[in-house]
Amino acid sequence: MPYAHITGWGTAVPERILTNDDLSKIVETNDQWIRERTGIAERRIASEDDSVSSMAVEASVKALQVANLAPTDLDLIICSTSTPEYLFPATACLIQDKLGATKAGAFDLLAACTGFIYAVNMAAQAIRSGSIRSALVIGSETLSRFVDWNDRKTCILFGDGAGALVLQASPQPGGVLSAVMRSDGSGSDLLTLPAGGSHMPATEETVKRGQHYIHMDGNEVFRFATRVMAQATREVVEGAGLKMEEVRWIVPHQANLRIIQAAARGLKLPMEQFVVNVDRYGNTSTASIPLALVEAVEKGQITPGDKLVMVGFGGGLTWGALAAEWTGPLPAEKIVHPERYKYRARIRSILRRLWRLIEGIIWGREV
Ligand code: UT7
Repeated sequence: MPYAHITGWGTAVPERILTNDDLSKIVETNDQWIRERTGIAERRIASEDDSVSSMAVEASVKALQVANLAPTDLDLIICSTSTPEYLFPATACLIQDKLGATKAGAFDLLAACTGFIYAVNMAAQAIRSGSIRSALVIGSETLSRFVDWNDRKTCILFGDGAGALVLQASPQPGGVLSAVMRSDGSGSDLLTLPAGGSHMPATEETVKRGQHYIHMDGNEVFRFATRVMAQATREVVEGAGLKMEEVRWIVPHQANLRIIQAAARGLKLPMEQFVVNVDRYGNTSTASIPLALVEAVEKGQITPGDKLVMVGFGGGLTWGALAAEWTGPLPAEKIVHPERYKYRARIRSILRRLWRLIEGIIWGREV
């Protein structure tokens, strides 16, 4: 049975930085309150030109470059997001087209902030089963487009960004070791975007009532998070057959520094073992774990052979953890240039659309 190794990684964030002081000009808040209660100093906000797929493609090309894998060699693309570009088609299909990943299946996965853990596990299990050889897993969000900028309880928390990992099969032991995936739908109302789905399609009224924005019971989510983070970490470490002392790094969901500190206390681990960048990006939901993970890898903190745990929680309610042994790129025979496929993909996509148009005219069909 092959092992599923993490062989490539990349991130992308919007250029625009929104500081706590900037926010204090929009809602009644201040830098001190936000820092003390959340640990956040600033977050990135998508411009009109940024989208879930554009950031995902930027992060993915970097990840493919590190893995030295051509997009055409990808078997599967999973995009984890709570802010898809459309209800359908899946944003993963837009990414597949922009990358030129012509042989990959593509779908979105929605498990809120826990989504990245679910998605990496799904990709790893597909590789472990032997049904695929490689996968691209992305967490990408434009939460700023669903935030009520008049609600100081939520608008100070969220930010935008994307992170991507490439997973590949190898007979060498290591890579993804174990995973825990949990949910409790009885808490579905604690963190929700009420309107716009089939339950409550968007109308003038829903917009007037602000039901197309994120609604959250922050205190309840906080309590839930502090309960499950340490528990899921312990469970996944045990599932991997490891002892807690063997785990070098914990990469937690970056929602609130106080939640991460509570998890550290619960696990009796020093904060130095926790990767934290919530101060600079805020809560980017499903993008937060890859944003933190990749930063730690690029800084040279996480190195091959390190055992680590990614652990998250979020709307649903969902929570989960994933244990892995860090590997790095697999040995390669030749250098590929994943970025070049983007231009070919663009031309191919335009030609396909043009061909469908011509076919429509020839056959007298509406297109
Ligand atoms: O990805 C998962 C998503 N969600 C989360 O992880 C969120 C988890 N929850 C939290 O992080 C925290 O509950 C919050 C950061 C959302 C809130 O922090 P808190 O320490 O639980 O504050 P609170 O809601 O209990 O509010 C305390 C006070 C209230 O004032 P009063 O009623 O005591 O006078 C709030 O009105 O702070 C006030 N407040 C603010 N003050 C200044 C709430 N938001 C703000 C603000 N600036 N932005």
